[in-house]
Amino acid sequence: MSPSPTSTPFQLPALPWTPAALEPHISARTLSFHYDKHHATYVERLNGLVANNAAYEGRALPEVIRAAAEKRDAAVFNNAAQTWNHSFYWQSLRPGGGGEPGGALADRIRKDFGSFAVLRQQLADAASTQFGSGWAWLVAESGVLRVVKTGNAETPVTTNARALLTIDVWEHAYYLDYQNRRGDYVTAVLDHLLHWEFAADNLPS
Ligand code: FE2
Repeated sequence: MSPSPTSTPFQLPALPWTPAALEPHISARTLSFHYDKHHATYVERLNGLVANNAAYEGRALPEVIRAAAEKRDAAVFNNAAQTWNHSFYWQSLRPGGGGEPGGALADRIRKDFGSFAVLRQQLADAASTQFGSGWAWLVAESGVLRVVKTGNAETPVTTNARALLTIDVWEHAYYLDYQNRRGDYVTAVLDHLLHWEFAADNLPS
């Protein structure tokens, strides 16, 4: 679970696929704003905020997020967490993804949720009911998989939970393609885009 960028000054990581690769579920036009504008701006603002600041400079991104949370430094926290969350989100998606995972992850899901259908419903509910901007996550905490949702820039990085995958439910993630129909975006992500192999790679050993 270590999406680049890794330390100051942070870089906008390359997308793991071409901008049109997620169509028709997420358009290249959405990505031209979501990645090229929103994500890029979080990285740019973060670098401006941490430059020449001994509390942050030279530290890895998760350390910057935790330090900013501890200091209640909202500007650094929001931009650092959003930088990390978006890098993790791009990796949580892939063309031809979605559906049910296999292998060890499928076994863990059956053990902790009872069935994949239960997990799918919990992810759909978390993503659909997060009030306002935020994120839905599959995480592992104390050896158990569970679904959580976070508001705005909040992130599992500040908790003991380890993120396995995430769904961005800020309006900028879906409004151009789905307008107010967040549920349709979430269904498309669940059925066609979730990168279960990435989630499996993030399973604690
Ligand atoms: Fe976003």
